[in-house]
Amino acid sequence: MEEYKKKKILCVGLVCLDIINVVEKYPEEDTDSRCLSQRWQRGGNASNSCTVLSLLGAPCAFMGSLSSGYVADFILEDFQKFHIDVSLVPERAQCELPASVVISNISTGSRTILHMNRNLPDVTAEDFSKVDLHQFKWIHWEGRNAEQQVQMIQQVEVFNRPLPPQERITLSVEIEKTREPLYQLFPHGDLVFVSKDVARHFGFQSAGAALKGLYSRVKQGAVLVCAWAEEGADALGPDGVVLHSDAFPPETLVDTLGAGDTFNSAVIYTLSNGGSLQDALTFGCRVAGRKCGFHGYDGIAEMSAL
Ligand code: ADP
Ligand code: FRU
Repeated sequence: MEEYKKKKILCVGLVCLDIINVVEKYPEEDTDSRCLSQRWQRGGNASNSCTVLSLLGAPCAFMGSLSSGYVADFILEDFQKFHIDVSLVPERAQCELPASVVISNISTGSRTILHMNRNLPDVTAEDFSKVDLHQFKWIHWEGRNAEQQVQMIQQVEVFNRPLPPQERITLSVEIEKTREPLYQLFPHGDLVFVSKDVARHFGFQSAGAALKGLYSRVKQGAVLVCAWAEEGADALGPDGVVLHSDAFPPETLVDTLGAGDTFNSAVIYTLSNGGSLQDALTFGCRVAGRKCGFHGYDGIAEMSAL
């Protein structure tokens, strides 16, 4: 059991550069205004989730493609600062790192993202086949190149098959973007995060309605989770009971960039430590709410004790 606890959580997905412009007021089109501050930050859902896992005290690793050059060096240094294992990161020397320009409105906490990926391919099932799976207790996929990701998940299922249940790797997936190919991931996670955007795309107006409507898509025994910004989050497991946690809004809403990634990691953190689904949901909302009160991820570290 002690050995199992020491195993890492792996997050597979995007790392990119976030160029964050903090503004007092959202700009009018075709105007020239000043920002309150500007900063570079390591971004990407899986990369942000690793930051939060690490701040919560969970050993973790990131797997996603990286380019070479000074922006990649900035990213690598930052991963190291947070003690995130990047030994599985393939470097694609000829490619450019994806970047997002973010307008972060301090008056509302809103974040407007303009993202660009020129030519950096995602990691493939072949890259993944070289990974020594023994080091992990949990693997989380940010839904991206879904066909390849399904094959990665199947590799883990083969690995899991001969193992007793308590030694198996738990699988989670996030379906955040409204892209048809991502929906094939629904039946592949023990835990599936579906976003408000996807829920709305399917015609649901609340997290609870989305969970009931989409639950038939997940595999038997799986848990489906849906976060709904300031309304908190809901979860539904095989017992058919919809659980809910209210949001924990900070005193002042400052920055919601990465709130969803923070929520996901706090849920994974709790469940991977044997917590209940209700505990996971509540902790997810607490940590994500706290994050919204700070720029970046400052302030999360002391929450592992809660
Ligand atoms: P994202 O848009 O980053 O994917 P979500 O809207 O899914 O994030 O929110 C994830 C979680 O973050 C919510 O369940 C909630 O707990 C917290 N959260 C997000 N926005 C707010 C907010 N405005 N106030 C309080 N909590 C929030
Ligand atoms: C936040 C985030 C940013 C990134 C963008 C990519 O959830 O991961 O860090 O720029 O989304 O879509």
